[in-house]
Amino acid sequence: TDVITKADVLVVGTGPAGGTMALALARLGVDVMVINKYPWTAPTPRAHITNQRTVEVLRDLGLAEEALALAAPNDLMGENTYCTSLAGEELGRLRTWGTQPHRRSDYELASPEQICDLPQNLLEPLLVGGAARQGARVRFSTEFLRCEQDSEGVTSWVRERDTGREYAIRSKYLIGADGANSRVVDQAGLPLEGKMGVSGSINIVFEADLSRFVAHRPSVLYWIFQPGSSVGGMGIGVVRMVRPWHKWLAIWGYEDVANPPKIDEEFAKGILYNLIGDNQVDIKIESFSTWTVNDMYATKLSAGRIYCMGDAVHRHPPTNGLGSNHSIQDAYNLAWKMALVLGGKAGPDLLDSYNAERAPVAEQTVTRANKSLGCFPPILEALGLFGTDDPEQMRRNMASIKDSTPEAADRRAALRTAIDRSDFVYNCHGVEMNQRYASDAVVGDGTAPPQYDRDPELFYQPTSFPGARLPHGWVARDGARVSTLALCGDGVFTLLTGLGGEAWVDAAAAASAQFGVPIRVHVIGPGRPIEDPHGDFARIREVSENGAILVRPDVYVGWRAEAVSADATDRLCSAMATILALP
Ligand code: FDA
Repeated sequence: TDVITKADVLVVGTGPAGGTMALALARLGVDVMVINKYPWTAPTPRAHITNQRTVEVLRDLGLAEEALALAAPNDLMGENTYCTSLAGEELGRLRTWGTQPHRRSDYELASPEQICDLPQNLLEPLLVGGAARQGARVRFSTEFLRCEQDSEGVTSWVRERDTGREYAIRSKYLIGADGANSRVVDQAGLPLEGKMGVSGSINIVFEADLSRFVAHRPSVLYWIFQPGSSVGGMGIGVVRMVRPWHKWLAIWGYEDVANPPKIDEEFAKGILYNLIGDNQVDIKIESFSTWTVNDMYATKLSAGRIYCMGDAVHRHPPTNGLGSNHSIQDAYNLAWKMALVLGGKAGPDLLDSYNAERAPVAEQTVTRANKSLGCFPPILEALGLFGTDDPEQMRRNMASIKDSTPEAADRRAALRTAIDRSDFVYNCHGVEMNQRYASDAVVGDGTAPPQYDRDPELFYQPTSFPGARLPHGWVARDGARVSTLALCGDGVFTLLTGLGGEAWVDAAAAASAQFGVPIRVHVIGPGRPIEDPHGDFARIREVSENGAILVRPDVYVGWRAEAVSADATDRLCSAMATILALP
């Protein structure tokens, strides 16, 4: 095969990670090509929980309005229901995804955005379409086969699936965003920890008007407990809303991972009727497939000029809904760095920070999602499903929880506790928002990282500590409220300061001229284009009014200065040089 085409960056995969990478690079003017072995993006809904940080990223990439128009809003997400079937008995509910009254303020204070539900099959075309609009070259039915790298670049061999023709693509960097069975990760030889195929699941996508079972308890997940159900399996199923309330994805587990069940229309309908609990409902099955729950992550995300992201480097169950969120955020972390390196504005070592910043996230994502699975056995235990293999006995045990006996009262209390504790499966506001990057692309200010006041996995704690995401606060532009986050991003560095910090404007201009990289400055305060009517900025900045916060293009704090000084320009230039990995 001849090398017949070139791109600065080749991205393998048009999923959440690859689509975001292609879009983010293209809008920064990078010559990027993205390929997918299939003729189009993912046909099934797959991931759906879209958290605040991801909506912030989508907004920065110019897609938030389109994404939110397609998403189910937060107020349709929260009445997570445990039941014996949709038509059957309800065992309990748990408010989820930030809808709990006592948690709403945590989410509202954390971000201008809300968690929403955006099925992956609707998100992917947005990302890929956005990438193409920005100039990315998109090639479907093009399968990555293998690659070789040298000191200048990577040669990847691909097969055009329509014609069988093989050819090579030469790029300066290769991005492996090719999902949980990543061939790019294999080719790069990245070290992986953990296990694939821990358990198996059947996905059935179907249409049915289920309004009368669900509209009064709007949720994205309905968990069904069915001991010894006649279609086999582990007895827990999930009916997941795809479109309220007529499009659904049912998930039913199977134990023998090596031997997935043979599924046909009749088998799938049997599962659905059991889960719905009413076989008079009109059902139209769209597709069925099997997938496995994995527990694996890469401890290093790159090798030479190959960088991997998304499920390729973190493979885990859907609990906590982290999958596509962290895939998108991997790409958002790497794209601006790669654009600066390719543009000759930053040293190649800047790319090392991707490993330092995102490998811990990969591990945390996988560990947390798998740990969450441990929340279900206590529910099963309280329902009396342990200690017997006899489905009849299990059903009697489940029924007897309603008895007016002291034993049943204890079990009801245990069930309530178990359901309340399953909050852990849905709530990980801290895991979503508390990432504090420690890398060479973050310049410390000599202070120690602030301690967490509450559980760092469950609760977000804003800080402008270098390496943390810039905290959100409402400031005002021409009187209209605007998030501090919206003052930043858009592919460039931003310096935030207050009155008395005007010297930072000159410092930023000097640094910008020295490094050839734009640095936007906002002097926030009364009488300025950006005002702080609620004192939000004063509260979140954690530096003096005339201090400064240097925000990276990914809206993470790169450096901060407690106060202005005569050598402000030198200090800012030195911080920029470090972040840009320049000598
Ligand atoms: P993703 O797997 O989305 O994308 C990989 C891309 O690479 C695809 O475009 C693929 O075609 C392409 N590709 C792979 N190999 C290639 C090759 N050799 N050459 C060219 N292209 C190649 N999560 C969740 O939260 N809830 C859920 O219910 C589900 N359900 C679910 C079902 C199924 C069937 C799958 C496969 C996955 C899920 N997930 C899920 C997981 C979720 O989809 C996942 O976390 C994200 O899609 C990860 O995004 P990535 O972009 O990293 O990979």
